[in-house]
Amino acid sequence: MSDLQNQMKRAVAEAAVEQFRDGMVVGLGSGSTAALMIQGLGQRLASGQLKDIVGVTTSFQGEVLAAELGIPLLSLNAVDRIDLAIDGADEVDPSFQLIKGGGACHVQEKLVAARADRFIVVVDSTKLVDRLNLGFLLPVEVLPGAWRQVQQQLTGMDGAAELRMAQRKAGPVVTDQGNLVLDVRFNGGIADPVALEREINNIPGVLENGLFVNIADDVLVGEVSDGVAGVRSLEKAG
Ligand code: 5RP
Repeated sequence: MSDLQNQMKRAVAEAAVEQFRDGMVVGLGSGSTAALMIQGLGQRLASGQLKDIVGVTTSFQGEVLAAELGIPLLSLNAVDRIDLAIDGADEVDPSFQLIKGGGACHVQEKLVAARADRFIVVVDSTKLVDRLNLGFLLPVEVLPGAWRQVQQQLTGMDGAAELRMAQRKAGPVVTDQGNLVLDVRFNGGIADPVALEREINNIPGVLENGLFVNIADDVLVGEVSDGVAGVRSLEKAG
């Protein structure tokens, strides 16, 4: 990650922490931007600037980090509602449709976002795109016993799907749920994210895909202009 991108992530993570209020149940996303936000939340709880917040995490990463910082946590099954969820994204289009799952956490991330009264996406400006999937591959979580079958189905939909391989471990990435991830490139990018999200999730063996459609309420963008880091609220197209 470049120093510039790091500055943008820090700025937007700080703006994310500003959204939390005393007494909230908050959904805590995954990835490097969300991790910075969780650190900021931990600091504010420790200093007493924020009180009575309970977190619902979206990954092993978030759970370990929040626990280290002393942030009280509950599981998704233990809460009736989530007031506000905040998470990063890999791509954001002008209509606030997203690709997520760069950290292979999109199953839990989508569950938490779907449960939240409000879902805010926090990204650095490199994540803004005109059309999804021209740059970032679409992650699809699959049952280990079905990955080849799902890969074939995706090929039939004009999607080139590769099994995501682990680093510093032989073999594939294994998700927090014990599944595998196919990363998919569709020819020409994704023209209709709403239809494609459903179509992929209808393939037997697919747990969830990284298209988050019609779910983001707000998008905050970290950017650096004239050497100064700032944050703007993205205006939704159409
Ligand atoms: C993890 C995610 C992340 O939110 C996404 O990959 C963005 O990560 P980062 O903030 O590190 O750029 O979807 O599954």
